[in-house]
Amino acid sequence: MTLQAATPPSTPRVDFIEPARLGVQLIEHLQDADGAYPASPSFSAYAGYSWFRDGAFIADAMSAAGSTDSAERFFSWCAAVLEAREARIEAIIAAARAGAPVADHEMLGTRFTFAGEEGSDDWWDFQLDGYGTWLWAAGQHVRRHGGDPTPWRRAIELTVDYLIASWERPCFDWWEEHAEHVHVSTLGCIAAGLREAASIGVLDAERIELARSAEAAILERIHRDGVVDGHLSKWIGSREVDASLAAVVGLLDVVPATSELGLATIAAVRGELAVDDGVHRYLADTFYGGGQWPLLSCFLGIAESRAGNTAAAEALFSWAASTATESGDLPEQVRTHVLAPDRFDEWVERWGTVATPLLWSHAMLVRLAVELGVELGAGAGAGAGAGAGR
Ligand code: BGC
Repeated sequence: MTLQAATPPSTPRVDFIEPARLGVQLIEHLQDADGAYPASPSFSAYAGYSWFRDGAFIADAMSAAGSTDSAERFFSWCAAVLEAREARIEAIIAAARAGAPVADHEMLGTRFTFAGEEGSDDWWDFQLDGYGTWLWAAGQHVRRHGGDPTPWRRAIELTVDYLIASWERPCFDWWEEHAEHVHVSTLGCIAAGLREAASIGVLDAERIELARSAEAAILERIHRDGVVDGHLSKWIGSREVDASLAAVVGLLDVVPATSELGLATIAAVRGELAVDDGVHRYLADTFYGGGQWPLLSCFLGIAESRAGNTAAAEALFSWAASTATESGDLPEQVRTHVLAPDRFDEWVERWGTVATPLLWSHAMLVRLAVELGVELGAGAGAGAGAGAGR
């Protein structure tokens, strides 16, 4: 099903700098003293928690914008969460190596309280992608700014071993759904994480070798089983597309944006899921009626930019920026076009109005701005230092 043909509009003058600057400031302001990034400060279901996935993408945006201290404080928070679970992680790895993997509920969670605890609220917790994504973001940061990853060494080792032992397992996807499937974007996050971990000089030769062969096996799995009709698929065996795949092609660079598969995936995400540059998660989405997500427009924008389609990327930025409230806050999603209008109210009754601000939305706008060449260094936020750069 095609919602709209790809027609990048002729771009009016867009202010790329101010919304990105505001985003950096907001994120710096809301970051917890111990480094955690709140997903959304006051939204009922997210308040008090920091996600590895959201946080890693936020840290990457802050790093790219020159807020190196903010990014490093998040990586140190991740490292502390992991080191505090060293014995448990080693037991998970040992069980997997012995051919008797632990149950899903015994695997690591996807989010933690700012103090690094599991918290007492139920969540769809077993998700592997964030463990790849934090490795990827930390690696990108080290490569971008030449920092020293040594303080995070043990946490990186534990994560690499955990992912090598677990990547083939089905788990919940980015959207806390379909724990019975192996999701292609999850595989992409893990492959990107292993690639980065192996290339920043923090692991011993044996682990580098293991990380590289696991990355190669994941890439082989993606290319062999994760492609349908010439583009990446939502999960192994699915015929659908999911907007999270734009990250695999663009920002994570697991499938190059300019490759045949990359271009076809961009076209599929755009053709199936974008309406007027607002991007849906997937066609069957009913969460808050299945609206359009600014952060996904930004992921698609980064992919378009890397494919050489700057005008398309700018139009996606423009749409994402246009979803800001009067006070400049970006929501998780907007109702400009909804896939399941009769499913909106039930979520408002359950969790209240849509999460706003969502730090991940702000971060992706920042990251797309940097991708488009915007310099955010001077005065971007209180702690901003060096100029922007990939
Ligand atoms: C989304 C996740 C996200 C979380 C926090 C959930 O509704 O499905 O992808 O990590 O919110 O932002």
